[in-house]
Amino acid sequence: MKIEDSLEHFFNDIATNVVPQNLYIPVNYIMSQGGKRLRPQLVLLAAELFGAKAEDAFYPATAFEMLHNFTLIHDDIMDNAPIRRGKETVYKKWNSNIAILSGDVLASMAMQQLLKTPCAPETLIKMSELFMQTSIEICEGQQYDLDFETQEEVTIDEYLNMIRLKTAVMLAGCLKISTILANASEHDQNTLYQFGINLGLAFQLVDDLLDVYADTETFGKELGGDIQANKKTYPYLLALQKANEAQKAQLQHYFSSNHYDKKEKFNAVKTIFDELRCKEDTEKIVEDFLEKAYRNIEELSLNSEQMETLKELALKLSKRSK
Ligand code: IPE
Ligand code: IPE
Ligand code: MG
Ligand code: MG
Ligand code: MG
Repeated sequence: MKIEDSLEHFFNDIATNVVPQNLYIPVNYIMSQGGKRLRPQLVLLAAELFGAKAEDAFYPATAFEMLHNFTLIHDDIMDNAPIRRGKETVYKKWNSNIAILSGDVLASMAMQQLLKTPCAPETLIKMSELFMQTSIEICEGQQYDLDFETQEEVTIDEYLNMIRLKTAVMLAGCLKISTILANASEHDQNTLYQFGINLGLAFQLVDDLLDVYADTETFGKELGGDIQANKKTYPYLLALQKANEAQKAQLQHYFSSNHYDKKEKFNAVKTIFDELRCKEDTEKIVEDFLEKAYRNIEELSLNSEQMETLKELALKLSKRSK
């Protein structure tokens, strides 16, 4: 069986016929609904590039996808998000208590899965340290994300640190974990991690844009969720910087409460984003991080064909529509 098929098979059958059903049915629900499966893809790609066996990398690949899905279940409660991957979110379909607990169990199942990796104990310890550190940093990022909803002044640097933590460290961790498994040089481990960070920053900046500009059907999430929740996204911070007095007053007015009519707020904020060309400027920053990621690739001890594979992946993600 192809490794991608083994992964899907595993995810589709992750917690069937186990009780209590109210704990595990939501786990199955989220794990079997797909998504891009980007994180396992990164683990497997790094394994291939640095010479770890795909059968061994299978375990960290599944562990990271499970960790990712756990963060999504909890993130949707925090963000009040009704739809993900075109389906009702777990807390909407069931309730918040069910979503909290099935998220918790999924996080533990992820760690358990990682521990099955067939490798030397020292290697497993290093992989586990990275995995736990990544989990901790995601929580830190998520806390900043929530804090910023009500924090009036958020600088671009604070924003970049927040998205590095909530999103980029997981992509970087997926890549690095396979370099640990493959026993790659420190230099390659750290450089590939840095590539993952730049890729992850670009990835989250695009996510911020998609909240406003995506095609809802393709995107699978509700449009304008960030605006409704007063998220300090990159387009919003840019708009504040570039706004005239009237626009600034409007933005601050709409971002001071959660109780404005959703559609009215979305349209008003999007109009200001458009007037100030925030989409185009955000795309330029995405380009910058893409360039940084390309420069990281050049420093890896890989051949040009392998470097090209990483570049193509980064380019594809920077142009994604879902
Ligand atoms: C969503 O991640 C959370 C972010 C970091 C933006 P993805 O966009 O990778 O979600 P799926 O797994 O493809 O649904
Ligand atoms: C992504 O944050 C980070 C995590 C889920 C940990 P978002 O809140 O932007 O992700 P989406 O847009 O809900 O997928
Ligand atoms: Mg969030
Ligand atoms: Mg969210
Ligand atoms: Mg988002």
